[in-house]
Amino acid sequence: MSGAGLLRRTRSTKAHADADRAAGPDHNGPSEHRPSRPPALGIGRHHRRRVGLRARITIFFALGAAILSGTIAAITYYSVRTSVLDQQTTSLSHEAVASALLLRPELQDPTADYPALLASTAATDGSDTLLYKQRRWYASSVRFTPPRPVPLAFQRLVLKGSDAEETIAVANSPTYVVGVWIPAAQSAYFALFPLSEVANTLHALLAALLLAALVVTLAGALLGSWAASRALRPLHEAAQAALDIAGGRLDTRLETDDYADLAVLTSAFNRMADRLQERIEREVSFTSDVNHELRSPLTTLAASLSVLEGRRDELPERSRRALDLLGAEVRRFRRLVDDLLEISRLDAGLSDVSMAEVALGDLVTRSVAATARPVPITFDDTSAERHVLVDKRRFERIIANLLDNAQHYAGGSTLVTVTSDRRVARVSVEDEGPGIPPEERERIFDRFSRGSSGRRRGLGEGTGLGLAIVAEHVRMLGGRVWVEDNGARGSRFVVEVPILDESAP
Ligand SMILES: Nc1ncnc2c1ncn2[C@@H]1O[C@H](COP(=O)(O)OP(=O)(O)O)[C@@H](O)[C@H]1O
Ligand SMILES: [Mg+2]
Repeated sequence: MSGAGLLRRTRSTKAHADADRAAGPDHNGPSEHRPSRPPALGIGRHHRRRVGLRARITIFFALGAAILSGTIAAITYYSVRTSVLDQQTTSLSHEAVASALLLRPELQDPTADYPALLASTAATDGSDTLLYKQRRWYASSVRFTPPRPVPLAFQRLVLKGSDAEETIAVANSPTYVVGVWIPAAQSAYFALFPLSEVANTLHALLAALLLAALVVTLAGALLGSWAASRALRPLHEAAQAALDIAGGRLDTRLETDDYADLAVLTSAFNRMADRLQERIEREVSFTSDVNHELRSPLTTLAASLSVLEGRRDELPERSRRALDLLGAEVRRFRRLVDDLLEISRLDAGLSDVSMAEVALGDLVTRSVAATARPVPITFDDTSAERHVLVDKRRFERIIANLLDNAQHYAGGSTLVTVTSDRRVARVSVEDEGPGIPPEERERIFDRFSRGSSGRRRGLGEGTGLGLAIVAEHVRMLGGRVWVEDNGARGSRFVVEVPILDESAP
């Protein structure tokens, strides 16, 4: 009743560390909370950003690579482990059974030196053998006091006459124990083989496989990022072209031959740009025609008017009043034509922008001086020396319109203040006039919109375009404009423009 074929298998594998890292890194889904960037100059507000296309493609590639390499690593590890352990334990079982057979005749001699006999059978390096005969235990080495470390259930199984094998932990290292019952000698023979070498090899294999999976995942992420940037390149080009067009370069077009797959997109884009250019050019020529057609009669009118005004004293009272009315209307008309022309050139993106770096102190002082209105200007600590990137002509227009309004509606501006922080400079035009009711504060920046104070003053004054022009210029400079209360009395118009980074205090 001996032989490896008869061994009962009660294999336990708990001595081996199981480490299955097949699953890749967790993908927690796109993050909702990204700081949204400020809107680019001349382009509408962006929606709240989700994870970008490029990041998403990269994540998908990395995730795919992780799952694939993890699965391959797990399959490889488990199949190698199973086959190596099978091979090893089978040969160890054979060895134990062969030793037991070899011992059988000697064991029948009651005077034999059993420990020496046992020691002679221990062939595999580091293995130990134990013997149970006539209620006594013998060991091949002094490392153990038998029956330790053989588990009790295992001993019982063998002593009842069965052969058995099992993997147990001895001093924390996996050990393969084989028990053989030798009926002829009424003895039980136990062989303990250390499996630590196999376990070390398997650990090394697992580490190598995990490392490979990590490398493959990183390579997947790199590949994904590369593929995404390649795939998105035409989109970037289209976006850049759209930005260029928005910025006034109307002849920008996309190359049609570069990406065959996107032929429809590029040709549609180019057609759209053609149309846009055509329309804008038509609008421009219309505007300049209208300007010309209106200006020459206006000039004649103004000239005739000044002749009449020169003889004002000779006119009867009623004609004088009519002349005054006519004069006011002609001047208003002239202003309207000027303002309309200016705003339509702004709309068409035709007025040239010449941005220059200027010191805030200089800029504001000169702009106020250009209006010939004596208004005090105050600067906070460092503001006068800070630099901004603006178009001076536009900035002068902004200040002039605000000071004109203050003169008109509030008896003149009382103070211009300049402040700045790390990002922006704020120029405020303050007055102590009637102020602007909160419900009108946004609307007065619309075209042809006149507030209640404007309407009260009746015809012959404004056009309702002044603040619309201000808003348009400020937008072109990349800034903002709004109106707020000036303490208890009057209003404060605030113009905010970005500060140049280099001039940070
Ligand atoms: N400093 C001010 N104080 C009070 N109201 C003002 C002031 N500036 C502008 N407003 C109001 O805003 C309106 C719009 O101004 P604007 O666009 O310059 O047009 P306009 O001056 O031709 O009426 C004015 O009609 C006026 O009611
Ligand atoms: Mg005005």
